[in-house]
Amino acid sequence: MASFVTGAYILSALLFILALAGLSKHETARRGNQFGMAGMALALVSTLLLVLDYLNDDLIADRSSIWVGLVIILVAMTVGAMIGIRLASTVEMTGMPELIAMMHSFVGLAAVLVGYNTYIEVADLSGGAGGSDSVHNAEVFLGVFIGAVTFTGSIVANLKLSARMKSSPLTLPGRHQLNLGILVVSAVLMVWFMLADGWVGMAPLALMTVLALVLGFHLVAAIGGGDMPVVVSMLNSYSGWAAAAAGFMLGNDLLIITGALVGSSGAILSYIMCRAMNRSFISVIAGGFGSDGSLASGSEGDRDYGEHREIQAGDVAELLADAGSVVITPGYGMAVAQAQYPVAELTRKLRAKGVDVRFGIHPVAGRLPGHMNVLLAEAKVPYDIVLEMDEINDDLPDTDVVLVIGANDTVNPAALEEPSSPIAGMPVVEVWKAKDVIVFKRSMATGYAGVQNPLFFKENTQMLFGDAKDKVNEIVAALG
Ligand code: TAP
Repeated sequence: MASFVTGAYILSALLFILALAGLSKHETARRGNQFGMAGMALALVSTLLLVLDYLNDDLIADRSSIWVGLVIILVAMTVGAMIGIRLASTVEMTGMPELIAMMHSFVGLAAVLVGYNTYIEVADLSGGAGGSDSVHNAEVFLGVFIGAVTFTGSIVANLKLSARMKSSPLTLPGRHQLNLGILVVSAVLMVWFMLADGWVGMAPLALMTVLALVLGFHLVAAIGGGDMPVVVSMLNSYSGWAAAAAGFMLGNDLLIITGALVGSSGAILSYIMCRAMNRSFISVIAGGFGSDGSLASGSEGDRDYGEHREIQAGDVAELLADAGSVVITPGYGMAVAQAQYPVAELTRKLRAKGVDVRFGIHPVAGRLPGHMNVLLAEAKVPYDIVLEMDEINDDLPDTDVVLVIGANDTVNPAALEEPSSPIAGMPVVEVWKAKDVIVFKRSMATGYAGVQNPLFFKENTQMLFGDAKDKVNEIVAALG
């Protein structure tokens, strides 16, 4: 049985690698997901078989406890699966980021619980004298640390993404020193933990857990709204390392491999996000990223940019019908309005009239990496006309009309023109370089980073107010 399970684990690991490879391209993403699901199903079944195999182990005297354990696992899996299926089938696309952040927090919590459990078991606390080895103790300490940071960090990310906590950064005085202090004290506690035996070891472990929980909370609370994409991908990576740590503690090879895959792919995604946000990867790793407080949102809020101009859907339809080239730049508002279907219909109509229509996608548009690509693929917009920000920016000066559909921060010229802006330095889709810009939104409200957008007041910009889906539908109807 053990060799069968080893084989199944290797196959699962291969399926996970194929899943990651598939997810790297739009065309193969669905297949990638299927590989991932198959790998996880195989991993679960083979792990359960491993538990059943203990029943044949002559050294185990009390077989009833294995049956009880198995029943508990199956009940927990059934309840978990029911909650998971319900959440997955009811969650709105706009609610995905906070759901994912919540899932990351579960991985962190699991690593903490596994750490305590294996320490209690291996150190044989119930029996008195400690018998734990130092390698295992190091695994436990690091696993609990990473798990606790991931747990509270992900909860803060969940609260910020669901707007239940202010997205502006919490800038305590000496916050970098606080983070460093926690790391140094945790290192000292680790030495104490490695030297301690039995119950005595619980003291440094518990103290470190509290400090790591505070560190996780503080690291993410200190990040400003505009930098949240980096946080989401960092927590994704941390949750992978927490899972790998749990794998080491449990001696489960597949959990180590899976955790390492998630951890490293999350780290690569963080690097890509850092480049997209023009932030230094090293400073992110060191936790010294985000606004420093002097750039807190709102500092630009009082500036007078002049008057904005409005336009109606019928006039936009005329403008589009006369255009030779159109670029559509979607943002979070397209996801909120679920406007991707009428946008796809508008694209079909314009292309049928001979208009060159393309999409320009900012890497952090929406609330999830690849958010806009997923929505457009869902509405069957051809992949070959969906371009990255870097690919479209050079063509914008030669574009007749840009439709900004529910995007705000990702098309904000202040990122390039105002050094004191909280989003200063972030590359943006330079839509204002086109001949005409139409901005679809419901009001003059700011975007996620909470900063005013000078684009709305430029001479070649006109605002089309209302729900993006309704307005695009009106334009489609007017085009006939
Ligand atoms: P945002 O800056 O969030 O702006 C979205 C705009 O959509 C809002 O200004 C809103 O204006 C408008 N809107 C909302 N509902 C609408 C509706 N039903 N119809 C029409 N418009 C609607 O969007 P963005 O340009 O995509 O930028 C994304 C932001 O989120 C960035 O700051 C990014 O850093 C952050 N973020 C991204 C991620 C990832 S990984 N992508 C994760 C976390 C945070 P009205 O209210 O006036 O309509």
